[in-house]
This record gives sequence, structure tokens and C-alpha cells, in this order.
Amino acid sequence: MTTPKQLRLSPATRAAQALHSLDERTGAVVPGIELSSTFARDADYGLRGGYVYGRYGGPTTSHAEAVVSSLAGAAESLLFASGMAAFVALFETLESGDHVVLPQVMYHGGLDWVRRLEAKRGLRVTLFDATDPDGLSRAVRGDTRLVWIESPTNPSWDVIDVAAAAEVAHGVGALLAVDCTVAPPVTMDALALGADVAFQSATKYLNGHSDLTGGVLSVADAGALFGELQLVRKLQGSVMAPFDAWLLIRGMRTLYLRYERASANALAIAEHFDGHPAVEAVLYPGLPSHPGHGVAKRQMTGGFGGMLSLLVRGGEEAARDAARFCQVFFPATSLGGVESLIEHRKTVEGPYSLVAPNLLRLSVGIEDVSDLIADLEQALERAQ
Ligand SMILES: Cc1ncc(COP(=O)(O)O)c(C=O)c1O
Repeated sequence: MTTPKQLRLSPATRAAQALHSLDERTGAVVPGIELSSTFARDADYGLRGGYVYGRYGGPTTSHAEAVVSSLAGAAESLLFASGMAAFVALFETLESGDHVVLPQVMYHGGLDWVRRLEAKRGLRVTLFDATDPDGLSRAVRGDTRLVWIESPTNPSWDVIDVAAAAEVAHGVGALLAVDCTVAPPVTMDALALGADVAFQSATKYLNGHSDLTGGVLSVADAGALFGELQLVRKLQGSVMAPFDAWLLIRGMRTLYLRYERASANALAIAEHFDGHPAVEAVLYPGLPSHPGHGVAKRQMTGGFGGMLSLLVRGGEEAARDAARFCQVFFPATSLGGVESLIEHRKTVEGPYSLVAPNLLRLSVGIEDVSDLIADLEQALERAQ
């Protein structure tokens, strides 16, 4: 008998099969769930499978982490109970007085946490304008430890060139971390583009069914930073629970299909409302008129995603009315699920928000796009 040829499988195949998961004992092709919060030692008091205690991680969470690492091309990934828990863990590895750089428009919860660290722990923070091509290089300094970027940025969908940002960060000896929540590895390979850490809110596209919260940090190499992150997660008790990890494994099986459909739907909506009389502007990197389209085309090779914003004619009141008049889009926060959501972003972000008052953020799902377009048409017409 000849030895079988080892096939090189594409990420979509690895995701669909959760890394060809097979229980050799039963033949089950769907991974099981291991709920135990503690793990018995063997006769020599050694660990049987490397697991000690549920707060340090467990087999189901490890399986989900292996799938994420495989898709992200990461040395290791760590799953957390929410995206913010992962964000907090990364910033917990910094010292008081360290200098960090972030975009001035990004996920508002992250900015709120960084402002708190600035006020209470002496973290030094510089925010930059992601629409200015030289904004990041002017913001970094010799003592910058961490550059955090998000691309596309939420909710204006400005595109940051990840490879260029990596060069700037590494040029001053800083690490680059990229929030890839809106551009998961289906479309953007942040680590291959030069990032040291790829972050995702697993609540969003990775799981895709709006039924768990989670976050992940994937690292390009399993060095000292990874050890620190493991320690922080273990001591903060912020690991993703086994049942959520199991749901996440199931969600990731359809990630490629969902992202493709959401991207196609969002592009159709963006094209339809571009130049529409009730809309001042459509913000979507998939439109050739978008200032970041060229970079997006280069670094988002699997679609531009399902996130876009509409600047509604008639100001804040018309925008808010349009959101509440929708019958198919749910007026809810979050993103990346199979169902479409719409929200008046300024209401959600609070006092520091730089978001335009007439901005509606759309998370486009996988429904029939003609229903989504008809819904927005009737809501905008009623709101004018
Ligand atoms: C781009 C982005 N990053 C991070 C987060 C935080 O993730 P979580 O809500 O899972 O804590 C969110 C949540 O909306 C997000 O949209």
C-alpha cells in the first residue's frame, strides 16, 4: 500500500470541518463538548491532557482556538469571554507610563478602556486620524510600545493599510495589534500583512449567529507576549466557557459562506443607495469611490464585508426615524450575524463620539437582498 498523499486544504475546508474533527471512538463528525471545570491527574500525579482547571482553559476551548489559529495563520490563539475581555488582557500586559497609539475613530468600548487606563494608571495615549495617510507615522514615538489599529474602522469604515502600519510600528520598536472583527481571516490576513497580534470580537462574524459573546487574540509567534496573555487570562478568569466555545466551533463552520453572502448583499445595498435622494453618502470600502477602496482591494481579498453606513439626508431625527421604521432590519447594536441590524450609532457611543449625528450603521446579514433594499427604501421614505 502506498502512503496517502497529504492534501493541503484551503481555510474554507478547514473551517467547514472544524479541522476534520472526528471522534475515533464513536465516529461522530461533530465535535463534542467537555464541560468539566477540573481535570484529574494520572497515577504519577501528572496531567493527562495538559488541562488543570476550567479557568485556565479546557479541551473544547482549545479546539476552537486551534480552528481560529489555523484560519488566522497564527502560532497560538487565546479565546476570551468577550471581545473587550481580550482587549483588556492585551492592554494589561503594558506598564504604567507606556505610550500607545490608536485611531481616534474605532470601537468605542476600547477607547473608553484606554481613557480609563490613561486617567488611573498613567498610560500615555496618542490618537491619530485614520483618514490622514501620515496620521500614524506622526503619532508614533521612540517610546511607543503598542500600536492598535482597526480596519475598516467602526463605524466610518476608513481603511488602514495594515502592511504600512506594521512598518511604522516596527520602525519604532512597537508591536502592531489589529482589530480584524469586520475583516476576519476569510478576507484579511493581518498576521501575514505584518501584525504581531490579530484581535477579533468572536461575538461578530466568527460566530455569526448572535448567540454568544467572545473575543480572540491570535499571535504571530508564541513568545513572551503569549505567555503574559495566558497568565492574564488565567488570573482574570476571562476565558471563554466550554459551551460558548462549542457554539463558536459550530458558527465557524459556515464562516466563509456567511461572509461571502453578507459581502455580496452589502455591496448591492451600497450600490443601490449611492446617489439616492434620501442619502447624503454611503460609507463602504467596496465602492470604487471610497477613498480606501484601493487599499481595501489589496488587503481584503475575500470580500469587503457586510458593514456599511448611510449618512441620511435630514439630519439626526430623520436618521433615527429611519432606523425605527425598519421592518426587516432589527434596530439593535452588534454586527456580523446572519440577521441584518441597523443602529443610530451616535446614540450608542455616548459623549466622546465623533460619529456624524445622521449616521446609520448597517450590519448586513444573509437574507434576500431585495427584502433588505425594500425595507430601507420604505423606512427612508417615511422618515423624510
Ligand atoms: C470592531 C469591534 N471591536 C471590538 C468589539 C468588542 O467586542 P465584544 O462586544 O465582543 O466585547 C466590538 C463590539 O461591538 C467591535 O465592533
